[in-house]
Amino acid sequence: MSRRILVTCALPYANGPIHIGHMVEHVQGDIWVRAMRMAGHEVHFVCADDAHGTPIMLRAEREGITPESLIEQSNALHRADFNDFGIAYDHYSTTNSDANKALTYRIYNALRDAGHVESKAVTQFYDPDRGMFLPDRFVKGECPHCHAKDQYGDSCEVCGKTYTPTDLIEPYSVVTGARPVQKASQHYFVRLADFESMLRAWLSERREAGGLQGEVVNKLEEWFADGLRSWDVSRDAPYFGFEIPDAPGKFFYVWLDAPVGYFASFREFCEEKGLDFDAFIERDAAQKAGTELVHFIGKDIIYFHTLFWPAMLHGAGLRTPTAVNVHGFLTVDGAKMSKSRGTFINARTYLEQLDPDYLRYYLAAMLGPTLTDVDLDLKAFEERCNSHLVGKWVNIASRCSGFLAKFFDGKLTDTLRDDLAARYRMAAERLAPVAGQYERRDYAAAMRTIMAVADDTNAWIAECAPWKMAKDESLREDLHQVCSLAINLFRLLSAYLKPVVPATVARAETFLALEAAHFDDVTEPLCGHQLAPFQPLLTRVDAGKIAAMLEASRESLKPAAAPAAPQAKKTPMTENASPAKDDAADEQLPTITIDDFAKLDLRIGKVTVCEAVEGSNKLLRFELDAGELGTRQIFSGIKAAYGEPEKLVGRNVVFVANLAPRKMRFGLSEGMILSAGSGGDDLFLLDADAGVTPGAPVR
Ligand code: MSP
Ligand code: ZN
Repeated sequence: MSRRILVTCALPYANGPIHIGHMVEHVQGDIWVRAMRMAGHEVHFVCADDAHGTPIMLRAEREGITPESLIEQSNALHRADFNDFGIAYDHYSTTNSDANKALTYRIYNALRDAGHVESKAVTQFYDPDRGMFLPDRFVKGECPHCHAKDQYGDSCEVCGKTYTPTDLIEPYSVVTGARPVQKASQHYFVRLADFESMLRAWLSERREAGGLQGEVVNKLEEWFADGLRSWDVSRDAPYFGFEIPDAPGKFFYVWLDAPVGYFASFREFCEEKGLDFDAFIERDAAQKAGTELVHFIGKDIIYFHTLFWPAMLHGAGLRTPTAVNVHGFLTVDGAKMSKSRGTFINARTYLEQLDPDYLRYYLAAMLGPTLTDVDLDLKAFEERCNSHLVGKWVNIASRCSGFLAKFFDGKLTDTLRDDLAARYRMAAERLAPVAGQYERRDYAAAMRTIMAVADDTNAWIAECAPWKMAKDESLREDLHQVCSLAINLFRLLSAYLKPVVPATVARAETFLALEAAHFDDVTEPLCGHQLAPFQPLLTRVDAGKIAAMLEASRESLKPAAAPAAPQAKKTPMTENASPAKDDAADEQLPTITIDDFAKLDLRIGKVTVCEAVEGSNKLLRFELDAGELGTRQIFSGIKAAYGEPEKLVGRNVVFVANLAPRKMRFGLSEGMILSAGSGGDDLFLLDADAGVTPGAPVR
């Protein structure tokens, strides 16, 4: 029976480029969509950019452009990346659209009118200089546990502990550097607990129907056991998002309108194509039409998709998801993607060096239906693509097509010998379960099945040795039979590989002079068919290109002076029960102009006094002779690196002379001494050669 399915992948933030981690999801979704279409189902596949939130607003500000033009630029880049990776979106939109605003308002108003929204005061850090509330990731300071400097407001990268921004020692705003103050404001909350019984019913229904993985069900059970906390869905101006209808100056938190973007994008598509939007969206119409809604997401955003989203939908009289398919995270060579190792690879950087079908195949071979992380082992990537795709699959056609062209004008035999036809049917039967393996998202099993048939095909060809037959004129008919079956088996394998490596299969189908739209198209062998000239389908992976890709990824780091910031932790809830998902600060410092640099008054100071500070295990107290600027006292947290402070006397250090003086427990600090290194005992004072004059400017 043919199914009608709307499929989505999570909407990438407009804030940054698409990287190969994202591609796990889009490739997984795309393979599923293509395979379900080949199985005969009606599938619509949409996505969009997630355009709202504080990081986008601030990044646009830094770049001196409007958020609208920033998200437009990203949108063009994201579309090109997905297109070039062969992701077959029917429509790719943005959440900053009229369609999305209208649907978001409809959903919110329904929740509010039914009494599920309440308002209460929330106290949060506020940047007095910029006049804005600070998301957790925009506050930094000293870790309250291990005292590492410059840690984010939600967790410490050094000791791994989590806390709230107000726990930080010496907190500062990432936006302006100002010391944040605590300030209260009214926020709007959706009472998630109102939906508990509905969510439990949805969960058990999904559990039975197979729309949720076991691991996800367990997580949900845990969350139910913990109690469902209300969800803070409002943010104060300035914010880039949709203003809340009845609350001027308040905006919807980005995660409220983001999933609505799935439907808004689909609505635009339906309007373009004259499709029945309501049949996929409205609760009753969808029920009647039997349509399905299937999401592909990463394991960091389960809470949003299995609690908030179904509750919102239900509260507004809309249909709930049929399945939420969750995948794990991509690691590269066994570790988290890293900018310094060059393994934080943007989709574009990959595409500049390598064929997208290599990565699609590798990911398919690694992906199962569970939440397990996927490792991109670059050596295995190279070997597997070369041995499986080129060595096993493409090889069948390249070995046999030449004989067909040379002796038979590129035409397949009119009939296949019985034993060979039987061999074809046997292979077709072995491959038939692959359709189900795709449907269950067990792509790894599908690839194993396909490659096992390819192995047997190659072994059979080797046994027949057409290259020997070709030398004996009396064996022409046998040669024709063998090569015709070989090309038929190649066609069969190609059809089953088509969801995974569509561009390469498109080239194969040019050679075959026939397309397979459905798996059913290849149940019988082709006879008497004219082939097109054979063209190389896929070359071996060039190890040099992998190296070049890593090098290029490393290079993109060079302008950055700051240590890379990780993505925001997504699952833990912040104190006001709203996940801090949009709060990732950018990974790199923005480019500055020479004027920005000129604002720093860097000077040479000659150390006249340097001593430990009683009561502090980190600070050294310096007195500097700063020439025309007089004497400066500066406290510097480098004690761990310099066990004998008195030895620093006489050094010509570099310091920031125009930093606002700061009152510390031990006295006034009038500037900042520069040192290099990552902190703790890995710190090295910068100093100038002897002969320099105290107070000399550093440029
Ligand atoms: N904008 C939200 C999603 C809103 S959906 C209504 C978001 N964006 S994201 O760009 O951070 O992530 C988009 C998707 O990519 C998420 O499903 C996330 O899990 C996935 N991935 C991001 N990095 C990933 C890896 N390194 N590996 C695998 N998937 C990754 O979350
Ligand atoms: Zn710490």
